[in-house]
Amino acid sequence: MLETRDLSIRFGGHVAVNAVSCAFAPGTLTAIVGPNGAGKTTYFNLISGQLKADSGTVLLGGRDISSLGVSARTHAGLGRAFQLTNLFPNLSVLENVRLAVQATRSGAHRHGLNLWSIWSDHTDLTRRAEAILATVAMLDKQHATVASLPHGDQRKLEVALLMALEASVFMFDEPTAGMGADEAPVILHLIRDLKKDKTKTILLVEHKMDVVRELADRIVVLHNGALVADGEPATVIASKVVQEAYLGASPTDAVTADAAPAESGPAGRAGRASAA
Ligand SMILES: Nc1ncnc2c1ncn2[C@@H]1O[C@H](COP(=O)(O)OP(=O)(O)OP(=O)(O)O)[C@@H](O)[C@H]1O
Ligand SMILES: [Mg+2]
Repeated sequence: MLETRDLSIRFGGHVAVNAVSCAFAPGTLTAIVGPNGAGKTTYFNLISGQLKADSGTVLLGGRDISSLGVSARTHAGLGRAFQLTNLFPNLSVLENVRLAVQATRSGAHRHGLNLWSIWSDHTDLTRRAEAILATVAMLDKQHATVASLPHGDQRKLEVALLMALEASVFMFDEPTAGMGADEAPVILHLIRDLKKDKTKTILLVEHKMDVVRELADRIVVLHNGALVADGEPATVIASKVVQEAYLGASPTDAVTADAAPAESGPAGRAGRASAA
């Protein structure tokens, strides 16, 4: 379980993320939506560690990871897609994935300088790397150098590396932005596949509502840095708060996951989904 509690950051006088409390369960794809400048990317940066919060905490599996840097959070299982700096452009696709697999097995499989164990380790790592490449449908490109891959394949490879690193959380910030019409479906297909693995927690920032509608199990809406709606997709999309957020007006109404139809009212969790 990934969770943020009262997470906030300000830039000068501007509160970019304002006391956001939210928990993300394994096996769930949560779409995070909101108008430009709502704080979605900043929220991701706070979760992945690119930015340190002014206040609030980030918890992963019940552990407070707020004070950890980016690489320690990656090691803990937080996978921010398309931000990896550890791709080796001159090595092959297979070698890159094998190195990532090896990184998660630091020393565990070492039995001294024994040629047999080195060889069997290598075979194990290669098998695992090949299995991951098969999952992202890149086995046929395993011997290509990373630098020679088209943009879409490089992005697929980055997701493969997150799998190799055994990420439990996959974060995608507008994954198809800047992609060609032939490349975008490939990434969406990959996210769809990832969703089938019910142990993964997936966070997706996406402006395209057709993509959100298809993939999201849940939608969280940010507006002016605050969480203003959270719930089942159809309900959130139809809500006044979303209609208004997308029109850029100030929301006056809040929706929560269990706020059903008017008569039940905003009781219970209303405090969490405070309107701006
Ligand atoms: N490093 C920074 N320094 C100062 N202000 C920043 C910084 N990063 C973000 N902001 C501001 O914080 C607010 C939230 O920005 P953010 O990029 O998180 O929005 P977003 O929801 O991702 O928008 P978009 O949909 O356009 O990607 C904006 O007003 C932005 O200008
Ligand atoms: Mg953004």
